[in-house]
Amino acid sequence: MLKRLFATHAIGSSADHGAAPAGEGTTSLKRVLTARHLITLGIGAVIGAGIFVITGQAAAEHAGPALVLSFIVAGIACALSALCYAEFAAMIPVSGGAYAYAYATLGEIVAWFIGWNLVLEYLFAVASVAAGWSGYFNECLGIIGHWLHISLALPGYLSQAPLTFVNGHHLETTGAWLNLPAVLIVTALTALCYAGITQSSLVNSIIVSIKLLVIALFLIFSLRYINTANWHPFIPPSQGPGQFGVGGIFRAAVLVFFSYIGFDAVSTAAGEARNPQRDLPIGILGSLVICTVLYIAMSLTLTGIAPYLSLNTAQPVATALEAHPELLWLRAVVSFGALAGLSSVILVMLLGTSRIFFSMSQDGLLPRAMSKVHPRYRTPHVATLVGGIVAAVTAGLFPVSILGELVSMGTLLAFATVCIGVLVLRYTRPDLPRSFRVPAVWLVSTLGALICLYLFWQSFRANWPLMLGWTLAGLLIYAIYGYRHSRLQHASH
Ligand code: ALA
Repeated sequence: MLKRLFATHAIGSSADHGAAPAGEGTTSLKRVLTARHLITLGIGAVIGAGIFVITGQAAAEHAGPALVLSFIVAGIACALSALCYAEFAAMIPVSGGAYAYAYATLGEIVAWFIGWNLVLEYLFAVASVAAGWSGYFNECLGIIGHWLHISLALPGYLSQAPLTFVNGHHLETTGAWLNLPAVLIVTALTALCYAGITQSSLVNSIIVSIKLLVIALFLIFSLRYINTANWHPFIPPSQGPGQFGVGGIFRAAVLVFFSYIGFDAVSTAAGEARNPQRDLPIGILGSLVICTVLYIAMSLTLTGIAPYLSLNTAQPVATALEAHPELLWLRAVVSFGALAGLSSVILVMLLGTSRIFFSMSQDGLLPRAMSKVHPRYRTPHVATLVGGIVAAVTAGLFPVSILGELVSMGTLLAFATVCIGVLVLRYTRPDLPRSFRVPAVWLVSTLGALICLYLFWQSFRANWPLMLGWTLAGLLIYAIYGYRHSRLQHASH
């Protein structure tokens, strides 16, 4: 039994290179993505609600002007994990990302656990960012309505979640019907993912260009309004655990960790990359470096142009600009840029969700239909539809905050596993060709795993029951379905 649960997948088997399993036709995913596409996908998935929504609370309640240090701390944790991801992605370039790496190193049950966490990460990231998108969408409707002198903004009962978590414990109804814009954006982007990877990547590139342009405009035009007095005291004196002082910097780092999530989704595009061995590490590390630099610049600017205490709103970037009437035009631009930014996060995370489902199904751990590839569009269309429908329903019904924290928890576990797995494989399979090697692997992977587990352990205690429920539901599905249908188990008998 234990031997079965911890059986590992042979590295390099064709089943998970994007090809359909035997007997289901030979259509495979389309290998069209270059290094530039992969970097753009990474930036598309990373820059979103984290910087446009969460930063305000992190600065106003926890770090003050030292928010930039929180971004650096979270960036270091992600950089260590990204290095490990890069080695794995170059060595095992398959659609399953961390799920496949765990299958190759730590065994089926660990792989299932990680795959299930990745579903949590990508699927709930889609839902939580879609809920944030809805807020910005309504704001943009309001701005357009203001220009046209008509009222366009949607009423609350059509733009808010009907359910809310009270004190993080129990669900209560809010009186709203449905978060309609959230459902619509997820549906539209699911249709795009269904239609093709080339189209999805093209739309992502356009959105990323808009988002980067808006960030550049914000940084350039805000520069002369930076008042260095706003940076004093740089680390406000502590007012309790996690409230300012050094403790506050770390607490804010946990919050802004969410803003870095997404570079790992690049690894799930392995089956569609032209030269995965060379380009995946470039995509993963390149997007992370670019986003880290932008985050550092944005956090310094935000806390420089407005007092940090004023930033505790759902649109902190727009709020910071309100302090300067000359920059009001930029405020509208930022709102549209944020809308674009959040769209690409939803798009790339939807792509990631379907590729994880696709990989797990190829291994027999999820129903076989999910590994079908559309004969014309060459996308995993059934997996795409399943992910899209679940995400749309979740986005329409649940509030943002709780989903966001669960996303961070699932991601931290996946990152820790990747860090540990890379070290394990250096010893169990030293012979494998590695086109990218983590430097000082002992230090990087141990430190990376420890930091991720520490953040997981410390940060979100209130959500542990939910996390446990998610894990148990996953184990139940594995026991009822995956364990019996695993292709690896069938192959070995
Ligand atoms: N990093 C992504 C965001 O901030 C999930 O929206």
